Amino acid sequence: MSEILTPGTILRDRYQIIDLVGQGGMGAIYKAEDDRLVGRLCAIKEVIPNPSATKAYQEQSQAAFQREASVLARLDHINLPKVSDFFSVDERDYLVMDFVPGQDLREIIENTRYKNDFIPEEDVLTWAEQLLDALAYLHQQDPPVLHRDIKPSNIKLTPNGIIKLVDFGLVKLLATDDDKTVTVLQGRATVQYAPLEQIGGDSGHADGRADAYSLSATLYHLLTNFPPPDAKTRYIKGKNQDLLAIRAVNSSVSSNTENAIIHALGLHPEDRPEDVIAFKKELFGDPSDISSNGKTSFTNWRMVFWRNRMLLAFVVLLFVVSVSLTFAY
Ligand SMILES: Nc1ncnc2c1ncn2[C@@H]1O[C@H](COP(=O)(O)OP(=O)(O)O)[C@@H](O)[C@H]1O
Ligand SMILES: [Mg+2]
Repeated sequence: MSEILTPGTILRDRYQIIDLVGQGGMGAIYKAEDDRLVGRLCAIKEVIPNPSATKAYQEQSQAAFQREASVLARLDHINLPKVSDFFSVDERDYLVMDFVPGQDLREIIENTRYKNDFIPEEDVLTWAEQLLDALAYLHQQDPPVLHRDIKPSNIKLTPNGIIKLVDFGLVKLLATDDDKTVTVLQGRATVQYAPLEQIGGDSGHADGRADAYSLSATLYHLLTNFPPPDAKTRYIKGKNQDLLAIRAVNSSVSSNTENAIIHALGLHPEDRPEDVIAFKKELFGDPSDISSNGKTSFTNWRMVFWRNRMLLAFVVLLFVVSVSLTFAY
């Protein structure tokens, strides 16, 4: 029943399987070509029902899949792969989205760690900004959409430097009352990056601050090459033996970045920034009020210089050329 689709298999008379990209507990993800839009590559995520589940449960999760997929198909953000189709074949559910080329951040961390190096803070901040924008967009939906499984292997970096947050397997609509509750598609989160309120099943208390925690654990991992200890271990160990300071591992990280990440790693949601927008302000400063937060202005300027480095180099070159010409004649 759980065989992998072989290359050449055509789904829905349209999607031709090229290759297996990955395989998880709930199914597989394939690279495919869309025969209707020749040359368009897509990623197809397959969800196979648990064979030991009752028929009623399977029907319920299939209905939940259809509901969630239709929400995902309406989303449109540069840092999320576009979901273009979803369907079911022989009790298996399929989600079709853009194929995102490039490496995932877990691979990038492994390569950097192997070289005994660290990923530059500027790069991590550029990725963080894109991830925070994607999360702000998801959390602003009505009802809000939570990702709930942010971690390095669910983040891809395209060759053009664009970040894409993938793996919508755990996406959950944030229902405000019981009538609107939407069943979770898949019930596993990665404990290393999960906030306390998500460990041991979803108690219904998670909100945008849960995604902020997982993003922050991911940023900690990107800057130190190690994930932080999981929230449950931290809780049991108590405050005094809590997190190792980022700058104790990687002294090149700015104290502003460290402070913002440690804040969002607060064990209790109330110990964290109130939402991802507040988290973004702590990391990058408030553009409308830079002077009120002197701590961040240095990082802001560094970011501005870094992003515009090509332009600045060109301006300096022009200046040197014009000075030389002035003195040459
Ligand atoms: N849209 C996509 N395009 C290209 N690769 C993808 C895409 N979505 C996921 N992947 C790759 O496949 C891997 C597994 O997919 P994911 O959705 O995370 O499934 P799982 O639920 O098994 O973790 C990811 O780590 C990522 O490297
Ligand atoms: Mg994944």
